[in-house]
Amino acid sequence: MGALGTLSLALTVGLSIAGPPNIVLIFADDLGYGDLGSYGHPSSTTPNLDQLAAGGLRFTDFYVPVSLCTPSRAAVLTGRLPVRTGMYPGVLGPTSRGGLPLDEVTLAEILAVRGYLTGMAGKWHLGVGPEGVFLPTHQGFHRFLGIPYSHDQGPCQNLTCFPPATRCSGGCDQGLVPIPLLANLSVEVQPPWLPGLESRYVSFSRELMADAQRQGRPFFLYYASHHTHYPQFGGQSTGCSGRGPFGDSLMELDAAVGALMTAVEDLGLLRETLIIFTADNGPELMRMSRGGCSGLLRCGKGTTFEGGVREPALAFWPGHIAPGVTHELASTLDLLPTLAALTGAPLPNITLDGVDLSPLLLGTGKSPRQSLFFYPAYPDEVHGVFAVRSGKFKAHFFTQGSAHSDTTTDPACHAASSLTAHEPPLLYDLSEDPGENYNLLESVAEVSPEALKAMKHLQLLKSQYDAAMTFGPSQMAKGEDPALQICCQPSCTPYPACCHCPDSQA
Ligand SMILES: *[C@@H]1O[C@H](CO)[C@@H](O)[C@H](O)[C@H]1NC(C)=O
Ligand SMILES: *[C@@H]1O[C@H](CO)[C@@H](O)[C@H](O)[C@H]1NC(C)=O
Ligand SMILES: *[C@@H]1O[C@H](CO)[C@@H](O)[C@H](O)[C@H]1NC(C)=O
Repeated sequence: MGALGTLSLALTVGLSIAGPPNIVLIFADDLGYGDLGSYGHPSSTTPNLDQLAAGGLRFTDFYVPVSLCTPSRAAVLTGRLPVRTGMYPGVLGPTSRGGLPLDEVTLAEILAVRGYLTGMAGKWHLGVGPEGVFLPTHQGFHRFLGIPYSHDQGPCQNLTCFPPATRCSGGCDQGLVPIPLLANLSVEVQPPWLPGLESRYVSFSRELMADAQRQGRPFFLYYASHHTHYPQFGGQSTGCSGRGPFGDSLMELDAAVGALMTAVEDLGLLRETLIIFTADNGPELMRMSRGGCSGLLRCGKGTTFEGGVREPALAFWPGHIAPGVTHELASTLDLLPTLAALTGAPLPNITLDGVDLSPLLLGTGKSPRQSLFFYPAYPDEVHGVFAVRSGKFKAHFFTQGSAHSDTTTDPACHAASSLTAHEPPLLYDLSEDPGENYNLLESVAEVSPEALKAMKHLQLLKSQYDAAMTFGPSQMAKGEDPALQICCQPSCTPYPACCHCPDSQA
């Protein structure tokens, strides 16, 4: 059959052969608004991400609800605020008893019901629990290859060096088991050599895609890279990025993005695959030049200032999403409802905090999102939300610095800036002042009627929101049990250092 014949056949069969798109959700770690070339960083090397940005939709006003790993990861997978799902305060660790409750419905679960082959590579950080009950394979993922929490939550001497025999920086958390690399529920190696991880994850991803295609079903890949979290490692990128160790780590992430795109292209699935890229929270500025960059935004990880919660975000789907830039409001909370709409997956019958952005992606309408609510890393029902954005205005009712944002020149970011109530709130016009430098309510004599109106509106939004919100029981309150740590040699001594099982692939 000639090209025209093939075309007319395709047109006749139309949408019935198209089916729901494959989904690749790439989630970076501690990556700031200013870190990518496409977001203005002058010395980052991110050609593949820049290609996604140029060929897809680039968001300027995309947010996470909490600027910390565990709550942010819970939000992206459930479309629900972490205070509802019990993913507060702080983060889970290797000894935590709690995890993302199994009755929460994840993106993987709704897509699995829709017929997707689902897989996750990388950092989980939503709990392990007894017998690994909270691990990804119990939360909708058919396959998992990754580390169940952050790669610094265990001794990490000698794990980041490239080449292997060189000296490397970072000691991480001592007195815990070496970090395990899990394949589904089994330990593959403990601890893995970190510069070798990305290529394992890419192979896992290629296999997932190819298997799904062979089985005639769509795939969902959640690729939660350890980059660019401290301590950074760069594999083949070491010394090559032109931006030091952080840049090398980012360059390795970028190369993995390129490899995933190539994998999709090799299978002939570029037009059938929606690729989304974003990150869990802003940069960890306490690491100084190794800590990432929030660009023109204020502070970083651990705070409710823009640098903590506003993230780079890209949506790439050739033939469906037109290349461009959008200033519409969007959140990781919106991904579950949006992907449900785009794939025909069932929405869970529970309160969701996200909205369907599919009209915005497909160019048929605006974002239905009018406002965003930001909780601190350690929320409570007495203080409620710390900050609210509506349209171009953002009000801070409470601010608190964070050790994660130490060492910058702005003292408001630092841990030494204790919890402060603002009455009236700090009010910023983010269209004129994205860096939150000029409080519109600073001088009572100069307050404009527009600012006054915005303040009243945001105050009302906060009080209504706090009144309607019910916190779920905290999973972190379940406490710690050192015996829950994953060990490849159960009952070995001396625990936990003995939990050491070399790499069969090395
Ligand atoms: C996990 O389990 C699935 C289903 O049994 C299997 O296909 C896969 O190879 C296993 N391992 C990994 C790393 O996904
Ligand atoms: C790290 O490597 C050095 C040099 O090979 C070795 O002396 C040291 O014991 C290693 N440390 C750990 C925690 O494995
Ligand atoms: C959704 O949940 C509510 C409350 O639990 C229940 O009353 C209702 O029947 C459920 N609807 C569906 C369609 O399952």
